[in-house]
Amino acid sequence: MKRRYLIGNLKMNLASVAETEQYLVALRKELFGKRIDGVEIVLAPSSVYLERFSRELPDPLRLAAQDVFWEKEGSFTGQVSAPMLRDLHVGSVIVGHGERRLYAHETDTEVGWKMKSALHENLQPILCVGETADERERGEEVSVVSDQVRLAFHDVSPMMAERVLVAYEPRWAIGTDIIPESEQIFEMRIVIHRALAELYGQPVADRVPVLYGGSVKATLLERVCFEPRMDGVLVGRESLYPHELFRMAHEIGNRDDGRREADGNEVGGE
Ligand code: 13P
Repeated sequence: MKRRYLIGNLKMNLASVAETEQYLVALRKELFGKRIDGVEIVLAPSSVYLERFSRELPDPLRLAAQDVFWEKEGSFTGQVSAPMLRDLHVGSVIVGHGERRLYAHETDTEVGWKMKSALHENLQPILCVGETADERERGEEVSVVSDQVRLAFHDVSPMMAERVLVAYEPRWAIGTDIIPESEQIFEMRIVIHRALAELYGQPVADRVPVLYGGSVKATLLERVCFEPRMDGVLVGRESLYPHELFRMAHEIGNRDDGRREADGNEVGGE
């Protein structure tokens, strides 16, 4: 069976040690007595709080970083390397988030280097792709997202490629409460799998999970996750509320929409 994912990107929120501590306490409280089945929950706090999360994050939640640099060590002021993350028991890392492409002017080529540095250190990359409002306006979303996928996976072996999660996050839906139609999300899921199939063939492409991100809330899961047959969601603001996070985990984990069998075939009985 293909796995499903709920990833919380805490961004530059939880703005103090005290707030971080409160959040971790609330997480443990919400989790108490609950069984988490059928969904992997991964949280990505600011790098400043990774160590604290690494010590205090309750099982079975897993830890991700929000970014990584492509070099392993050296004179790179302000950067954090993949080996450093590994050392803190971080399992995954977001690469190419829309906000990094916007504020840090990250290019597709750099995103590709970051992917490879993460993979070589055995970290699972969560690759974010997605077009801006202007690009969609000009009808360029398919070519933009296909190029982002192609450049990020450049020189990544098929075996490594299967360890990546891809998140389709249209930039116009991040932090805006503008929600794409299910059909738009489904179409981009196909675009992503098609770009991967051109690189690796269909069987490998089908094994790469594709998530949706951008203004996700529990009440929107039908539209942004189940209907477009996504493998999970990447959540920003709502992940700051542990109650909402576990509500989403429950819905995603317990959803039985017949895709288990279908995906069992699709992915060769994973
Ligand atoms: P919001 O859910 O706050 O729109 O953020 C989405 C996001 O960027 C997740 O990575």
